[in-house]
Amino acid sequence: MQSLYSNGFELIYDNMYQTFIDYKEEYQFYNNILNDYNKQNVLEIGSGTGNLAHYFLKHNFNYQGLDYSQDMINLAIKKNSIGQFIHADMKNFSLKKPVDSIIITGRTTSYLLSNHDVHAALNSFNLNLKKEGILCFDFIDASRFFKVIKGGKTFKHSANFNQIEYYRESVLNTNNSNNFMFDWWSRYYEVKNNNKKLIAEDTSEVRAFTKNEWELLLYLNDFKVLEIIDKPSYMFDCYAIVAQKKP
Ligand SMILES: C[S@@+](CC[C@H](N)C(=O)[O-])C[C@H]1O[C@@H](n2cnc3c(N)ncnc32)[C@H](O)[C@@H]1O
Repeated sequence: MQSLYSNGFELIYDNMYQTFIDYKEEYQFYNNILNDYNKQNVLEIGSGTGNLAHYFLKHNFNYQGLDYSQDMINLAIKKNSIGQFIHADMKNFSLKKPVDSIIITGRTTSYLLSNHDVHAALNSFNLNLKKEGILCFDFIDASRFFKVIKGGKTFKHSANFNQIEYYRESVLNTNNSNNFMFDWWSRYYEVKNNNKKLIAEDTSEVRAFTKNEWELLLYLNDFKVLEIIDKPSYMFDCYAIVAQKKP
């Protein structure tokens, strides 16, 4: 798990990612899908600091967020006083009432490191979705992205938020540990008068998937794939999948 999700670093995450990700566009993407399938309420898994929550709540959507990090949840509540946020693990949670739709956003599927984790999460989604409920999520596409990072690749990102300038240097490389895992080393800096001050460092192992893996994992857990959509993000080649809980 990235250390940027807790202990005060969630504030840096929040500032930087509002530069990296257009959350309004993200909201529109998920909202179009939920409208297409006529879904009235949504649970967002990996709701983070509540940037998508802001748009769902603004448009009076019946919204709940769920996240594993209490610090991310606390910040999400601070930013969205009317939002409902649940502190739980996507691999094992139980809502008071089943929902029409579940979305897993911002490549949070990368934290399902083993197939055991994926089965546990899909089982939880199945139990918490209504009949014919919709599951929509994005994932990093190993087939394309591993060709970019094989042998190690450095990415540099600048972010400017609330007059604070940030800079992130990341080195990503494939590894042979398991599944389609990769290592992600990153250093975060605050930049003042052209001087960089190191504010955080992180090493994590995360997971990419192929389309075929997801098709089979969803089939084994009684979901029917309805759509696979190319969904590039600021650094990664990604797809989004829309699946439906089988009756
Ligand atoms: C990359 S961030 C994405 C946050 C948000 N969706 C966004 O786009 O800014 C991943 C989030 O998933 C959460 N997360 C990681 N593993 C989780 C798990 N097993 N259950 C629930 N949330 C998890 C992290 O705490 C973090 O907030």
